[in-house]
Amino acid sequence: MKTLKENFLWGGSIAAHQCEGAYQEDGKGLAIMDLATQGSYGVPREFTKQVEPGKIYPSHEGIDFYHRYKEDIKLFAEMGFNCLRISIDWSRIYPSGDEEVPNQKGIEFYQRLVDEMLSYGIEPMVTLYHFEMPVEIVRQYGSWANRKIIDLYLKFAETMFKALNNKVRYWVTFNELNHVDPMSKASDMFTYLVAGIKYSELENPKQILANIGYNMSLASVKAACLARNINADNKVGCVFGITPFYPATPHPDDVLAAFKQTMRDFYQVDAMCFGQFPQYKINEYISNDININILEEDEKFFFEGRLDFLGFNYYQSEMSSTLNTKQTSENRGLHGGYINPYLEVSDWGWPIDAKGLRYMLNLVYRRYNLPIIITENGLGAADEVTANNEIIDDYRIKYLNDHIRELKKAVIEDDVDCFGYLMWGPIDLVSATTGEMKKRYGFIYVDKQDDGSGTLNRYRKKSFNWYKEVIASNGESI
Ligand code: BG6
Repeated sequence: MKTLKENFLWGGSIAAHQCEGAYQEDGKGLAIMDLATQGSYGVPREFTKQVEPGKIYPSHEGIDFYHRYKEDIKLFAEMGFNCLRISIDWSRIYPSGDEEVPNQKGIEFYQRLVDEMLSYGIEPMVTLYHFEMPVEIVRQYGSWANRKIIDLYLKFAETMFKALNNKVRYWVTFNELNHVDPMSKASDMFTYLVAGIKYSELENPKQILANIGYNMSLASVKAACLARNINADNKVGCVFGITPFYPATPHPDDVLAAFKQTMRDFYQVDAMCFGQFPQYKINEYISNDININILEEDEKFFFEGRLDFLGFNYYQSEMSSTLNTKQTSENRGLHGGYINPYLEVSDWGWPIDAKGLRYMLNLVYRRYNLPIIITENGLGAADEVTANNEIIDDYRIKYLNDHIRELKKAVIEDDVDCFGYLMWGPIDLVSATTGEMKKRYGFIYVDKQDDGSGTLNRYRKKSFNWYKEVIASNGESI
């Protein structure tokens, strides 16, 4: 009977801006998410030009991971994690992005953090860019629309490859850079998360988003070359947020629309895996009067900087429909499709579709034939704490159980090479889309509420022991 690999990576993923806090400590500069206010379900986060008095900016304190990381890593180790995906906040290393010399205190924090993980046998997977960029890069250079940013990013990447050399093997160039396709209408939220700019303020959004998409793809392949030059053992991946779209009916228009909406997110994956920036995208730009600044030398980097592995964040699927369906706030999905009526939705309106994970793993593996790791998956829910500080989160256990079961089927029955499962937010942290603490993902409860109150104490939820058992049995308990 086939099982998951013996050295399968089990653990979780967190991101600096959602947990660290200490936003002005040890020389850190202001980062784009330090200007994102707290929203809630249905109330969008605001992205302000500077910190405004009287507004709540959740990244400023996060869950105070910057000071409490030892306690948190110990809890992850207790669950049996053999991998943890963290991100580096660029603004801790180069506070404005373009300094000559890096901020040593910022580097030392990540060295201590990684050493702490290694002391428990937890393999670090390090994301260089998880919606974290010095605000000054946006103000002075116009963010990723400007090709100059690639060099600033590479300088930052090189600093970290060297600072964590021989300690970190798995590097991720970007998290979810794919949510800004020039040919589809984007939202302020996604362009802000990816590049610190608001879609509604762009004068020529197609051109700007195309530049951003190209420059980030090029930065990724260049960083991959750099990482492997510094240490041939480095494995470089990129993380994409992939949402499968299903046709609402067998009508060919719906089927085609579903295919197109799903593939919308793939052009950068193609660019980083097939050895060249896709010609179909370049042709599409030409027919839409979009000019991309492509240099001759880029070709070599796209070829040599192909990824070693793919990371996928999977939360939900959506539906495509072309036939007389009106979009309303009730039936509209997060990525522009429709909510599938066959699926239940979370309290934040995200459809729950475990089989979509198996579908997506198959789709991606057969297209790229590269090892895949699930870098994020989880359920955001409002937890209740009993008088004894217990949290009975059976709904979370069910969600994760169903998804891991489908992952196992993809590996065991469909032969997909999936080498790990990192659940999102193993400790409660700030939600990226809403800025809330109330939308909790963790196995570990953090006593912090949206009004800023709470002791920041940590408590094990029921799912804590459940995941411990899953890891101990290498997934056999599911
Ligand atoms: C992913 C992001 O897209 O979704 C994470 O990489 C984010 O940063 C996660 O937290 C879940 O989204 P949310 O809005 O529920 O936090």
